[in-house]
Amino acid sequence: MARPSCSIGLAVTVMVLLVLALAGGSSVQLSESFYSYSCPGVFDAVKGGMQSAIAQEKRIGASIVRLFFHDCFVQGCDASLLLDDTPSFQGEKTATPNNGSVRGFEVIDAIKSAVETICPAVVSCADILAIAARDSVAILGGPSWDVKLGRRDSRTASFSGANNNIPPPTSGLANLTSFFAAQGLSQTDMVALSGSHTIGQARCTNFRAHIYNETNIDVGFAMMRQSGCPSTSGSGDSNLAPLDLQTPTVFENNYYKNLVVQKGLLHSDQELFNGGATDSLVQTYISSQSTFFADFVTGMIKMGDISPLTGSNGEIRTNCRRVN
Ligand code: HEM
Ligand SMILES: *[C@@H]1O[C@H](CO)[C@@H](O)[C@H](O)[C@H]1NC(C)=O
Ligand SMILES: *[C@@H]1O[C@H](CO)[C@@H](O)[C@H](O)[C@H]1NC(C)=O
Ligand SMILES: *[C@@H]1O[C@H](CO)[C@@H](O)[C@H](O)[C@H]1NC(C)=O
Repeated sequence: MARPSCSIGLAVTVMVLLVLALAGGSSVQLSESFYSYSCPGVFDAVKGGMQSAIAQEKRIGASIVRLFFHDCFVQGCDASLLLDDTPSFQGEKTATPNNGSVRGFEVIDAIKSAVETICPAVVSCADILAIAARDSVAILGGPSWDVKLGRRDSRTASFSGANNNIPPPTSGLANLTSFFAAQGLSQTDMVALSGSHTIGQARCTNFRAHIYNETNIDVGFAMMRQSGCPSTSGSGDSNLAPLDLQTPTVFENNYYKNLVVQKGLLHSDQELFNGGATDSLVQTYISSQSTFFADFVTGMIKMGDISPLTGSNGEIRTNCRRVN
């Protein structure tokens, strides 16, 4: 039989815990089991959606991974990138790193609809994007991992944040490192996460200066890329080339193998192997794909932890393109 003093002690403990939980919004942790009871079907729904999207177009897996990166670097992983512009709302989609470049929103919409059917108003768009990015990597041959969940969706977006926080491809190594450091990510995280460029495509406008004006590039490779990307700014700006020249739909360590033979497509890619501090890590990832995969997973989990909205912050959007 519980004595009165025990009950009081228990009540005090519960209250202290409640106060701690409410006061420290940021202390609420994401957890792999967040939807174990409320929506155990979310994993099959997201995986099914990504499998059918990738079966239709292999590049879309890359596009989804990039959406996750561009979402997380701007006010945290809160699906702010998914919000459409309206006459009275400026989102992130037309910021310089995103305009004419980010893609895959229809795939997230389709997955969100499927998830809403099985568990309405439970799973955030931010969490769907985190799971979809993981599944994309795994389906294309890369590693898999348990995704931490419990993020909520923002009611805001930041056009200026998208312009200022996402590194441009003209960046040098020091600046690349500092863009990632600003998000709490290390130089190792930066090099490992850049390995995402083993999949996907880039537009001429983003690699023109590197292939025409720089000397740390293989001459034959430069000529090949020049043939699909006119030197004059404004012509052929959206022409595409693969970031990994041989296998842009397979997630492996070939991206790094290209760098050591000066076949990086973007200026920023070649910066990772250009006589600087990260050369040795590139060599490590070439000799050990498992080290690359392990560091990549660590980086993705850290990136997914950037400033989540939790508890009663934000909302669970019904439609990923607009606030409720
Ligand atoms: C290190 C700094 C980075 C820079 C400067 C950079 C820059 C770029 C640029 C310029 C493109 C081509 C966009 C276009 O021309 O439309 C691109 C594509 C891509 N980026 Fe990055 N990126 C970086 C890091 C990352 C990270 C950390 C990830 C993911 C974790 C990532 C994933 C991708 C993917 C998958 C694509 C291809 C997307 C597609 O085909 O739709 N990038 N990146
Ligand atoms: C985005 O790109 C479109 C098409 O190229 C262009 O018309 C528009 O001005 C761009 N938006 C911003 C904000 O730069
Ligand atoms: C890049 O680094 C230089 C110094 O090396 C600095 O002046 C510049 O502001 C940086 N640019 C960005 C976008 O961080
Ligand atoms: C190459 O550099 C020259 C001199 O700075 C510049 O005029 C030209 O526009 C650049 N070309 C490209 C394709 O970046």
